[in-house]
Amino acid sequence: MVFAQALAAGATLLGLSAQASAFDITKNSNLAVYWGQNSYGAANGAGANNQQPIGFYCQDDTIDTIPIAFVTQFFGTGGAPVMNLANTCNNVDNKTITGTDMPDCSSLASDIKACQAAGKAVTISLGGATGSIGFTGDDQATQFAQTVWDTYLGGNGTVRPFGDAVLDGIDLDIEGGATTGYTTFVTALRKLMTGKTYYITAAPQCPFPDAYLGTTLDAVGFDAVYVQFYNNYCGVQNFNNTNGWDFDSWDNWAKNTSPNKDVKVYIGAPAAQSAASQGYVDSATLAGILQSTQKNYTSFGGAMLWDASQAYANNRYDKAVKAALTGAAAPAAPSSSKPKRELNRFFGRWD
Ligand SMILES: *[C@@H]1O[C@H](CO)[C@@H](O)[C@H](O)[C@H]1NC(C)=O
Ligand SMILES: *[C@@H]1O[C@H](CO)[C@@H](O)[C@H](O)[C@H]1NC(C)=O
Ligand SMILES: *[C@@H]1O[C@H](CO)[C@@H](O)[C@H](O)[C@H]1NC(C)=O
Ligand SMILES: *[C@@H]1O[C@H](CO)[C@@H](O)[C@H](O)[C@H]1NC(C)=O
Repeated sequence: MVFAQALAAGATLLGLSAQASAFDITKNSNLAVYWGQNSYGAANGAGANNQQPIGFYCQDDTIDTIPIAFVTQFFGTGGAPVMNLANTCNNVDNKTITGTDMPDCSSLASDIKACQAAGKAVTISLGGATGSIGFTGDDQATQFAQTVWDTYLGGNGTVRPFGDAVLDGIDLDIEGGATTGYTTFVTALRKLMTGKTYYITAAPQCPFPDAYLGTTLDAVGFDAVYVQFYNNYCGVQNFNNTNGWDFDSWDNWAKNTSPNKDVKVYIGAPAAQSAASQGYVDSATLAGILQSTQKNYTSFGGAMLWDASQAYANNRYDKAVKAALTGAAAPAAPSSSKPKRELNRFFGRWD
């Protein structure tokens, strides 16, 4: 992992950790980009621009926060959760932590710390579309909050897939399983979250209210929601359709229903044609949507993209999006991805 070491060394030499501005959740120009599932490789054939370790995506100021995707099982062998990071780290190709099916990804710890030193918030996302997830009830939810704290955050459990790297929070991308227990889980986790700033986000689908997290989003405070405005009639592709696009409902929820009245709503979008079955628009079109929403809604927090591998393969779509958010001159960005739209079992399922 030459580049990760180079990045860490560079960060030290240049004093980047001192200069980098820390992630600021109150801004309306943040860019969240999921990393972990190698969506481009999955959709375009193995070996096609394979996902690089996380540090690769932290070498400039484009991305502000990275949810790592995904914890796919809450209670696996030995009671430990299971995480899958596609080609970068998984429990088939990589060794597992003794007595569990959790892969040992601790060689990524230096990458994660380098991302954090560069001012990015790195969180762990729970779920994804095929996750074996959910709680039998509140007791399990409370227990799992402790597990997540010990496994990824400030706790000190024996199962630490990222070693001594302490992530900056969690993201809930719940697209299956039972809906029970999430309010208890978030409440219990919040109580444990002391010692530094931690974030709790969610990635609901755009139809309001969200089928899995709707009641939880109403009951406990989240820091941000990365609304998936894709793979649905209400996606960015239907921005001009009054029966399609509906940021209003989310803005209204943020201001009037959410227990955290400062919760930020992000527009989640696919970073390339092959990143979703529905909802990709070119970067100039998305730029217009982002800027118009940013102007009209104080709840707007920025953009979320699925995912880093797709954005990098698509002419650095992430850069064009960040430029739109910060009001920098929108770069001419022809969306000349190679749209080989091959559906496989990951495609459209890990959104
Ligand atoms: C996991 O295994 C793959 C395949 O051998 C390897 O390329 C990768 O670097 C390993 N990941 C980690 C985090 O050690
Ligand atoms: C975690 O820290 C607590 C408090 O210092 C300590 O009691 C406990 O033994 C530690 N657990 C592990 C697994 O190190
Ligand atoms: C919405 O309409 C505007 C003006 O006609 C157009 O420039 C833009 O591309 C349209 N957006 C979408 C997502 O179709
Ligand atoms: C923002 O408000 C203007 C003026 O009312 C309107 O034309 C535009 O469609 C709105 N944009 C969004 C994204 O709501």
